[in-house]
Amino acid sequence: MLKAMLTNPLQDWELDDILSETGWEDQVYVAGAGKSLEEAGLVSVEEFTSKTVILGSEGKRSSIEGLLESRLWDWIKEQDEDRRSMKDLMSSEFDRSETGPGVGILKSMGVEIESGNLVFTEENEIEEEINKRSQFIQSLSEGPCDSEDLDEQMLRHFSSRSGLIEVEENVSRIWKLTEEGANVDLSELSEVEMIGELTPEMLQNDSWKGSSFKPFDVTAPAPVPSGGRRHPMQALIERIRSVFLEMGFSEIEGDYVQSAGWNMDALYIPQSHPARTMQDTFYLENPSSVEVEPRFLDLWEKVHEHGHDTGSRGWGGSFDHEESQKALLRTHTTVNTVRHIAENPENPSRVFGIGRVFRQETIDRTHMPEFHQIEGIIHEPDASLPMLISTLKKFYAKMGYPDVRVRPAYFPYTEPSAEVDILWRGEWLELGGSGIFRPEVTEPLGTEWPVCAWGMGLERLAMLILGLDDIRQLYQPDLDRLGKMPLL
Ligand code: PHE
Repeated sequence: MLKAMLTNPLQDWELDDILSETGWEDQVYVAGAGKSLEEAGLVSVEEFTSKTVILGSEGKRSSIEGLLESRLWDWIKEQDEDRRSMKDLMSSEFDRSETGPGVGILKSMGVEIESGNLVFTEENEIEEEINKRSQFIQSLSEGPCDSEDLDEQMLRHFSSRSGLIEVEENVSRIWKLTEEGANVDLSELSEVEMIGELTPEMLQNDSWKGSSFKPFDVTAPAPVPSGGRRHPMQALIERIRSVFLEMGFSEIEGDYVQSAGWNMDALYIPQSHPARTMQDTFYLENPSSVEVEPRFLDLWEKVHEHGHDTGSRGWGGSFDHEESQKALLRTHTTVNTVRHIAENPENPSRVFGIGRVFRQETIDRTHMPEFHQIEGIIHEPDASLPMLISTLKKFYAKMGYPDVRVRPAYFPYTEPSAEVDILWRGEWLELGGSGIFRPEVTEPLGTEWPVCAWGMGLERLAMLILGLDDIRQLYQPDLDRLGKMPLL
């Protein structure tokens, strides 16, 4: 390459010039040789980035059929003023998949909906903007354009819409000889063959002996291999699983569909508790009820109404068996652990589960209506609060968070109750609840042993471990982003 460039030492060499002068066919050689020459101080490389804009699939369609806002606008103008309602629009030739987004676009341009009718005042402005947009799309239908030659505001606008345009980044380079490079004496240059990659053949026939080797630069940029991998959430679940297994716990599971009885009454949550109402819980229509064994209904009735033999006075009022058998999507995985005790009242157990739960939450950065909990219990004669705390500390330490603190808290089913926080970048973050089940919970289940219990958010922990600031990033099928998340 140096020889080729010395044929015209003052030239700015572009890729094609070098390829034709050297006779090389692959630009990889130019990049590699150019880099070596640059490192040797003989050549300087300049990089230029340019952006080419082309129509996306939606853009190509729009260039033929017209932009959605333009077609909608034409429709509006064709209608008599009293036929411009959303209802008329719905029964027009426009598809439902177009009317929603289309009206959204028109609204952003000044069209308003007043008692179901599409109205506007700035007719000329709207028309002008639509024309500008249509012209932009038309101009691209003639072929790729350099982004520099396009209207910046239009470019920004269409970049924010999906499928209309695609922007390709191109990097081009120019190689120039430095003064030192230009002064290299051609007669002193000799060609030395170097081995870049050892092959099994070379090793067998000893041909590598006495050869020169191309130095290997481990800091050179290289493509990041994108192989298959586990979803980060699945990887995290498996890590949690192995930590609990290591600590001597066994795993349990349960169904998403449960009775209100097992999800709440068994936990001594009063039947009038606000968390039961439509605000938080997804009750089901089909099935609308789930049968509960009468012996449990009777016991919960006694405990809720007057405390039964637990020494408690109960909540009072009258316990409703029908309410208890309403079907719902479990709101916490504590339903699994209490059922486990009811099925094994006489056997000591240390069990955990990682499962999906459902609550009526508005979706935002930190909330979703479906999320996961890490639940567990220690059910044995000597279970105690210190045992609960040391178990949680050990769990989080194994997960990489050695600083754990507990604060007093309240749950209807535990006494004492504790909130669990971990220290993360100097801040205490709340990860879940825990406590010792109250006798009102354990007695109907058929045990007198204390039970250490906890339930913690999995997504919260995932956000910390994966360094996310938005919980939704975990569940969007963005392979690029998922692929870049840390391996666990
Ligand atoms: N079930 C509680 C929740 O969903 C957590 C919890 C579990 C609290 C066990 C105490 C004992 O937040």
